[in-house]
Amino acid sequence: MRLHIAAALAAAGLFALVGTVAAQQPIVIKFSHVVALDTPKGKGAEYFKKLAEERTKGRVKVEVYPNSTLYKDGEEMEALQLGSVQMLAPSVAKFGPLGVREFEVFDLPYIFDNFDELHKVTGGPVGKKLFQKLETKGIVGLAFWDNGFKDFSANKPIKVPADYKGLKMRIQSSKVLGDEIKALGGIPQVMAFSEVYQALQTGVVDGTENPPSNFYTQKMNEVQKYLAMTDHGVIEYAVIVNKKFWDGLPADIRSTLETAMQDATKYANDIAKKENDDALEAVRKAGKTQILTLTADEKNQLKRALISVHKENEGRIGKDIIAEVYNETGFKP
Ligand code: LMR
Repeated sequence: MRLHIAAALAAAGLFALVGTVAAQQPIVIKFSHVVALDTPKGKGAEYFKKLAEERTKGRVKVEVYPNSTLYKDGEEMEALQLGSVQMLAPSVAKFGPLGVREFEVFDLPYIFDNFDELHKVTGGPVGKKLFQKLETKGIVGLAFWDNGFKDFSANKPIKVPADYKGLKMRIQSSKVLGDEIKALGGIPQVMAFSEVYQALQTGVVDGTENPPSNFYTQKMNEVQKYLAMTDHGVIEYAVIVNKKFWDGLPADIRSTLETAMQDATKYANDIAKKENDDALEAVRKAGKTQILTLTADEKNQLKRALISVHKENEGRIGKDIIAEVYNETGFKP
């Protein structure tokens, strides 16, 4: 009899211990992205990790996987939907394949002149509407993070539309960006970000488009002789999480993570412009790529050549959302 009681007590004790250990296991957030650490997104992700772990006193552990080390483009969205990873921050140009084509409004050439205009959209009704469209995909949108304005690069001087004729240009998985390259007479090639350096090095593609922070941190300045300061579009990120994971979090943890995300968003957006200015300076200093500053006339020629992309994609993106963005930015087609 005594033996039974002792065994039962031991079992109960063990059971309680397992319960406590399980309860003390941190909630793990795997945060995968495709860029280098010393970029706006790379630093933003590390800062979110720091805040989330500090403020939850270790109840949450954020594992950041930069530079496509865990998932690369074309893999990460599915991994998020399956719950193999909990958090991503893909470029808004990568939501078309998910069936949320409205995000490609961000890719319309020259639709944003500056960060203020961009923030009116990301911080306003359009941004909210776009995130709502993700819910049916099992995804929750948490925030928009900036990177910067894109510039074209190639191994020949590219100043006017005719210079792009026949060039194979790497783009993200966006139909609008495909139309942009075609409008310049180039040949668009969708490719994972992690493969771009090698494709440029081997000549699989002739050129591409990036903000300076991605151009420099991926060492593209080693394999591209010219960088034309076209500022023709933006790289903007949507920080997203798996909905089941997010909704399943304890309420106190979720609200702590929401505030950590707000503060990390402010940090990432505050550093974005300087990160790109510093990267451009580093490209200049490295001296392997000639930086081409376009005249007002050369830039207008590009704008005129690219404007047709807006009309062409009204059906795909939706006239209403385009009109709302025009209204926010003051863009006149
Ligand atoms: C690209 O594929 O060029 C970018 O979206 C990469 C990134 O995340 O900045």
